Amino acid sequence: MPTPVSGQIRVGIIGAGLIGQLHSMMLRYVADRTEQSVRVVSVADVSHPAAESLAARWQGAKALESAEEIIADPSIDAVWICTPTAMHLKVCIAAASAGKHIFCEKPLAMTATEASAMAAAIKASDVISQVGLVLRFSPVYNVIKAMFEQPDVGKLLSVTMRDDQDFPTRGAHASAWRNDPLLTAGGTLIEHSVHDFDLLTWMFGPVTSLYCRTRNLNGADGVEDFGATSMEFAGGCHGQLTSIWHRMIARASNRRLEVFAENLFAASEADTLGPIVFQRGSGANEETIAADIVMAKFTENILRERPYLAPIKDRLMIPYAAEDATFVAALKGACEPDPEFAAGVSVQRMVEAAYQSARSGVPVQIKS
Ligand SMILES: NC(=O)c1ccc[n+]([C@@H]2O[C@H](COP(=O)([O-])OP(=O)(O)OC[C@H]3O[C@@H](n4cnc5c(N)ncnc54)[C@H](O)[C@@H]3O)[C@@H](O)[C@H]2O)c1
Repeated sequence: MPTPVSGQIRVGIIGAGLIGQLHSMMLRYVADRTEQSVRVVSVADVSHPAAESLAARWQGAKALESAEEIIADPSIDAVWICTPTAMHLKVCIAAASAGKHIFCEKPLAMTATEASAMAAAIKASDVISQVGLVLRFSPVYNVIKAMFEQPDVGKLLSVTMRDDQDFPTRGAHASAWRNDPLLTAGGTLIEHSVHDFDLLTWMFGPVTSLYCRTRNLNGADGVEDFGATSMEFAGGCHGQLTSIWHRMIARASNRRLEVFAENLFAASEADTLGPIVFQRGSGANEETIAADIVMAKFTENILRERPYLAPIKDRLMIPYAAEDATFVAALKGACEPDPEFAAGVSVQRMVEAAYQSARSGVPVQIKS
């Protein structure tokens, strides 16, 4: 059993780009609401200005140029790995060997084999770890999940999801590495829909086989911008996931989810707060759960399941805040980290199976 951190948790952020900055902001929310239980003390980025600009947001934090400098600092308890995907493996294994607790962004690695090696290093070093599969903290999906867990809904029949985003090398995602096959694990399926594959199995159980087609219009070789995946769930339900990187920069990244059980239909056009449209039993009309009601239901449920999130209850509408507060609570020994690395490995295997199917043109069985 890893030993929880005593006293203030000292954090190093590795990679000061889009997601490193976001985690810094979330850690500030958590710190300010938990008597400064956590503090960012170092930021490392190969771009010194990027490290400096993020470090400047934390009094006294150091701006460094390499992950190794953070990992070598014995005063640092935990690292947030926020570099491009290709660097996760090396940084994670070095950090685990040095006994640092690890939050790692998704996808864990370039391949499932690499992700397994990272999980093994973490197990051997007995450190606390969590993977950034943040959709599990989305209010709207938590409420929909709870709706389909009610016994009167009957058998689950079908799940349809669409995930779309502007090809992420410009705008908010203006980083060239996302179209470089040496630095990204792939295209829309692994770099964005990894969240969706994880969400769907978290909500509706394991997938036993899948069939996938991909298309590549704007990406480099191996960086697909379209994926259509059909999945069979162990429970008998059929799933369809459409993953799209389009060229409409003004269109915000979003998801649509539509679920049918025998006695319940529910759908949402917005991936954080909803609203949710639903129709139940033999009722003749669709009804709507407005976003504020979605938030109220989510808050009630999540605080019952995860009471340690109470200090950030005014920030629960931001899934990244709940995600980081969960890892901070795990570091203090208040809960288990969730989702753990095993979830990151298992979803990476699943997306790899989708790529295998797209290459071979035939369905692929998923080993449990
Ligand atoms: N969970 C989410 O919603 C989410 C969103 C965006 C990105 N991500 C993931 O987070 C990771 C980073 O993505 P991003 O959007 O922040 O990218 P980004 O390009 O905005 O930032 C990456 C940063 O890492 C730095 N960097 C590169 N190599 C480095 C190294 N060896 N050591 C230290 N720093 C290095 C870069 O200079 C850059 O500042 C990726 O794995 C991505 O898939 C997750």
